[in-house]
Amino acid sequence: MGNQLIAPSILSADFSDLKTDIMMVNQSEADWFHIDIMDGVFVPNISFGMPVLKSIDEYAKKPLDVHLMIVNPEKYVEKFAELGSDILTVHYEVCTNNMHKVVESIKKNGMKAGIAINPDTDINVLEKFISDIDLVIVMGVFPGFSGQSFIEETYQRCFEVKELIIKYNSSALIEIDGGVTVHNAKKLIENGADVLVSGSHVFKAENPTEIIQKLKDI
Ligand code: DX5
Ligand code: ZN
Repeated sequence: MGNQLIAPSILSADFSDLKTDIMMVNQSEADWFHIDIMDGVFVPNISFGMPVLKSIDEYAKKPLDVHLMIVNPEKYVEKFAELGSDILTVHYEVCTNNMHKVVESIKKNGMKAGIAINPDTDINVLEKFISDIDLVIVMGVFPGFSGQSFIEETYQRCFEVKELIIKYNSSALIEIDGGVTVHNAKKLIENGADVLVSGSHVFKAENPTEIIQKLKDI
């Protein structure tokens, strides 16, 4: 068994029976809950917001890995801490001028801090922050929807982020988000991935627990 962490993305869960899916993740080999918050401005989709996160937190027995796909995330850092987020990730593309401050505020509020980068964002933008953060989300798709197909360049981008982490002696983990399946997971791990997010591949499967187990066993 590898050391990779598995974070099923709740965006692909059954919202009419969310508790059942949360319990399934609790009982599975999964490590974190991945929670996608979308505002319809930074991405062309609106997912769910604070009341839903609060309900998830009531039943989830594993860390909440919250991925903010919203503009002005600095306004809500405190609120997401109160709602039970353990890891809070913001997108580089919306924090080009205030990222140091945002990262500091996430940590001050007791959470681990992450930076996510879109598939067309230069890896080197991470250089200034890599020593201060706990997580880098390398997007395997353009954010906004689950169920999109994986962008092949992500392997190379993952490898380059890993090189940067080594160069700066950073302890940041690399999380791959979007299009992850049991078919590309091995190659992602070989390229330095530490955390694998999987949405549709897990929740649309006949046996989600088995897919989580397979991702964990790679
Ligand atoms: C995409 C989200 C992802 C998504 C992953 O914008 O950030 O977390 O839920 O879903 P799959 O695994 O189906 O690509
Ligand atoms: Zn996500």
